[in-house]
Amino acid sequence: MTVYFNDKYIPHDEVKVSPFDRAFLFSDGVYEALRTYNNKFFRWDDHLKRLKYSLKELGINFNDFDRFKNIFTELADINNIKTDYSVYLQISRGVSFPRTHHYEDNLVPNVFSFAKPIKDNSKELTNGVKVILEKDLRWLRCDIKSTSLLPSVIANQNAIRNNAYEAILFRDDSITEGSHTSFFAVKDNKIFTAPLSNYILNGITRKVVLELCKENKIDSCEEHINVNELINFDEFFITGTTTEVTPIIQIDDWIVGDGKPGSITLKIQGLFFNTVKQV
Ligand code: PDD
Repeated sequence: MTVYFNDKYIPHDEVKVSPFDRAFLFSDGVYEALRTYNNKFFRWDDHLKRLKYSLKELGINFNDFDRFKNIFTELADINNIKTDYSVYLQISRGVSFPRTHHYEDNLVPNVFSFAKPIKDNSKELTNGVKVILEKDLRWLRCDIKSTSLLPSVIANQNAIRNNAYEAILFRDDSITEGSHTSFFAVKDNKIFTAPLSNYILNGITRKVVLELCKENKIDSCEEHINVNELINFDEFFITGTTTEVTPIIQIDDWIVGDGKPGSITLKIQGLFFNTVKQV
């Protein structure tokens, strides 16, 4: 695979990064993950806005956003990607030597990106997935899309070990989100998701789903979901850039409803696919 690194397109195994890059030593960097539909970037402005927010919150000096669309398209071309694809973009604070926790303000960020074809997720979308519940061990700035992801990695690894697709996280008794997805629950035809705060990422697919609810007069709210009250809900689903709208059919050992994707979930999924088709 050919990747982008600081103005160059290089085979992925030939990129050289200093071990003193602060993302390597301190997870001192941010990232974005976006994708195309019909070869166009989905919700470009939202992703760019979130990237700028993450950089601002961490005080990483970077302003060179205009080239990104060309870089991502170039990556797809160079790698001969003919289908829709996802893009990973990482911006680290840069290299500082010797290792110190504090940093100078004049560091030069390292910019890394790669594109890959979207993996077929039709089975998950159609059949639904199992998730597990895990304590949310992340820091208190989950609104920043930082590369500091160890608790999410551990939670998702536990999910995979338990033959599940995702770990749904709870802090105190409140569900926050998935390790790399947003979480939704449905009760009496009303859709619930956790309110935006420092405890969750401002998911772009989450935003699209809430917009679709409004436009289509589906009752929705941003309210805390108590982990001990999940049993009182009828349906659940997760959302994300590559996860799209994926039904949940099992939480730990509990088979939800009849073990099939719920009707409201499928309605949202249908509306979502109509939206992306029109991109
Ligand atoms: N994950 N919550 C978390 C913690 C996430 O990491 C993500 C995205 C989401 C969904 O956000 P969006 O709808 O904007 O993709 C929610 C990306 C895909 C990742 O980590 O690769």
